[in-house]
Amino acid sequence: MQQATKSATIWQKQELPDGWKRRAPAGFESLDDAKINQEAIDELRRLVRERLFPIFVHGATGRGKSFLAVRAFVGFQSRDGATFLRYGDFVEETIRASKNGQIGSFPAIRDTGLVVLDEIGSGIANEWKNEILLKLLDVRRDRPLIITSNVKPSELAQVFDARIASRILAGSLLELGGDDLRREWINDPAERARRVVKIV
Ligand SMILES: Nc1ncnc2c1ncn2[C@@H]1O[C@H](COP(=O)(O)OP(=O)(O)OP(=O)(O)O)[C@@H](O)[C@H]1O
Ligand SMILES: [Mg+2]
Repeated sequence: MQQATKSATIWQKQELPDGWKRRAPAGFESLDDAKINQEAIDELRRLVRERLFPIFVHGATGRGKSFLAVRAFVGFQSRDGATFLRYGDFVEETIRASKNGQIGSFPAIRDTGLVVLDEIGSGIANEWKNEILLKLLDVRRDRPLIITSNVKPSELAQVFDARIASRILAGSLLELGGDDLRREWINDPAERARRVVKIV
C-alpha cells in the first residue's frame, strides 16, 4: 500500500522509482495526500479502472473537486503521461492558435494517458467555446478524461448544449458533497483566534 506523505513539501520532493518527480500543476503545489477524501479517491480509481469515461466530478464550490482531479493527474503522470487543462485557459489558447493558423494542442491531448479538464462552465458559454469543448470530448472519447465543474449534470444541456451534455453523460458522475473546505477553519477555535481580527 502506498503511504500518504504528511506534508506537501515532502510530497513534492518524492521521487518515483523510475526517476520521475511527482509534480502538481501550477496553483496546486499545496496538494497533500493526507487531505485527500479517501472515499472519493477510491471511487475515482474504480471509475478509471472500469473505464467509465468521461468522469464528471461535480459539486458546489470548495468541495475538493480540482484537488481530487489533480491527485489523479499526478498518479497518471509517471505511468502514461497526463495533461491538466484549465478550461478557460484552454479555450483562449485554442482560439489564439487557430487565429495564428496553428493546430493548437489537440494532437498532444489525443496522445496523453489522462486529460483533466478543470472547471468547465466557469464564464459564459458561447458557440466557439462549445465547439472547442465538443472537439475535446470527441478527441478523448473512451479515453481517460476527468472533468470538474460546479454545473449540475441535469443543467449541462442548458449551460452548454445537448451534444456536449450527451457526451459527458455517456460516462460517469462523481458528486462531492460536504462543506466548503476553504472555510473549514471557522469551526476551529484556534484558527478563529488566529484569523479573525476585530478592532473596536
Ligand atoms: N488534497 C488536498 N490537499 C491540500 N488541500 C486541499 C486538498 N483537497 C482540498 N484542499 C483544500 O480545499 C480547497 C478546495 O478544494 P478545491 O479547490 O479542489 O475545490 P473545488 O471543489 O474545485 O472548488 P471550486 O468549485 O471553487 O473550483 C482548496 O483550496 C484546498 O485548500
Ligand atoms: Mg475547482
